[in-house]
Amino acid sequence: MYLYGASGHAKVIIDILNASGIKVDALFDDDPTIKELLSIPVRHQWKGESPVVVSVGNNLSRRQIAEKLDCEFGTVIHPTAVVSPNATVGEGTVVMQGAIIQSDVKMGKHCILNTGASVDHECVIGDYVHISPQATLCGNVQVGEGAWIGASAVVIPGVKIGKWCTIGAGSVVVSDVPDGVMAFGNPCRIRTKPSIPFCDQSAHPVKRIAIYGAGGLGREVAGGIVRINNAGRQQWEIVGFFDDNIPVGAQVSHYGNVLGGIDELNNFEEPLALAIAVGAPKTRKLIHDRITNPNITFPNLIAPSFRILDKQTFEIGEGNIIQDNCSVTCDVKLGSFNVFNGSNAMGHDVNVGDFNVLMPGVRLSGEVSIGDCNLLGVDSIVLQRVKVGNNVTVGAGSVMMTKPKDGFTYIGIPAKKFDFE
Ligand SMILES: CC(C)(COP(=O)(O)OP(=O)(O)OC[C@H]1O[C@@H](n2cnc3c(N)ncnc32)[C@H](O)[C@@H]1OP(=O)(O)O)[C@@H](O)C(=O)NCCC(=O)NCCS
Repeated sequence: MYLYGASGHAKVIIDILNASGIKVDALFDDDPTIKELLSIPVRHQWKGESPVVVSVGNNLSRRQIAEKLDCEFGTVIHPTAVVSPNATVGEGTVVMQGAIIQSDVKMGKHCILNTGASVDHECVIGDYVHISPQATLCGNVQVGEGAWIGASAVVIPGVKIGKWCTIGAGSVVVSDVPDGVMAFGNPCRIRTKPSIPFCDQSAHPVKRIAIYGAGGLGREVAGGIVRINNAGRQQWEIVGFFDDNIPVGAQVSHYGNVLGGIDELNNFEEPLALAIAVGAPKTRKLIHDRITNPNITFPNLIAPSFRILDKQTFEIGEGNIIQDNCSVTCDVKLGSFNVFNGSNAMGHDVNVGDFNVLMPGVRLSGEVSIGDCNLLGVDSIVLQRVKVGNNVTVGAGSVMMTKPKDGFTYIGIPAKKFDFE
């Protein structure tokens, strides 16, 4: 048997194969730095060896690898697992220690039934599903392709769980869960509705993304992208960073290296999504205006925790970065290329233009309007109906109570024009 993916998950599968008396001939992994796992050699070029078990825990990655391997797949069942003779288990599926599959269950391909999990009578489990340790699915439950059921979750009889959902650990699922959402709690409730309609991750193939700006905001944005991936909203592969002030090849963090500056970006020959992770509003605009490469697109990167009270009345442009725990109520319009750097609250009828940066904790009361290229400092507040024009800076902790003049800095409570002399 061959395993594809030299991960922690593979270690468990190796134990299961050992317990079943099946030899692991070799592992494969795309990462050339991994040479062996539990003393088994790791190869980096698959040449058709089979049967293979894709030993990768992430459901989407497992699907991508399984789809590119044209071969026979193994099915791995630990001797301590109990599988009804009236159940079916698809190819590539792994059933771990102490798991139970009851009568008339249909278990899809390339699933993981993790340690001690149990799937009761007549459940139908789609392909690429992961049912985590000790999770319990009662009778007649249906789980859509690619869903991830967290550890010790309980799903009551007859519930349907949509494709590519995430059900949090310890949840008690008492009603149907639609496609593509993250839900958790007892009772289990939907916590994140995607801002774009989400049904099937096959509609969201992995796209390449780079980050312009290799500083702290760049690293924050990289972490945010990973959380978006984990929530199953979109699937991004971070290819690296662009920055005009850091040498090409310099490692920014574990997320990647500097690939170049504006010239390299403008010469990039393949489609590439870009996040501009620069905190100075005017510089954001300058960088944007210098990008002439038609291969570059600017997606909205929206943290899974973003809350929209009234989705019907919410509008958003492109290239926005919305970090964790931001919220909007109703009739909110956000332009393009803004940064909402976390915990930003926006009330009814708020209108935000382009290239603004709202630092963490900024709150905009109802009917506030913000023009372009403004910088609102940490924890600052703009009171109801105040109109902020363009190029204004509001100091940290300040409260803007009246309309400021364009291009000036305001600080204090109430915020007053600040003269630097
Ligand atoms: C649901 C889940 C995916 C959310 O992850 P996340 O998006 O990173 O969420 P965060 O950790 O930022 O938590 C956000 C909020 O939700 C709460 N929360 C997260 N998961 C929760 C859960 N399972 N049950 C109840 N509350 C939960 C957090 O406490 C936090 O609350 P706060 O905003 O009041 O502080 C994750 O918590 C989870 O349960 N994963 C399953 C892990 C598992 O079973 N692994 C098995 C591996 S074999």
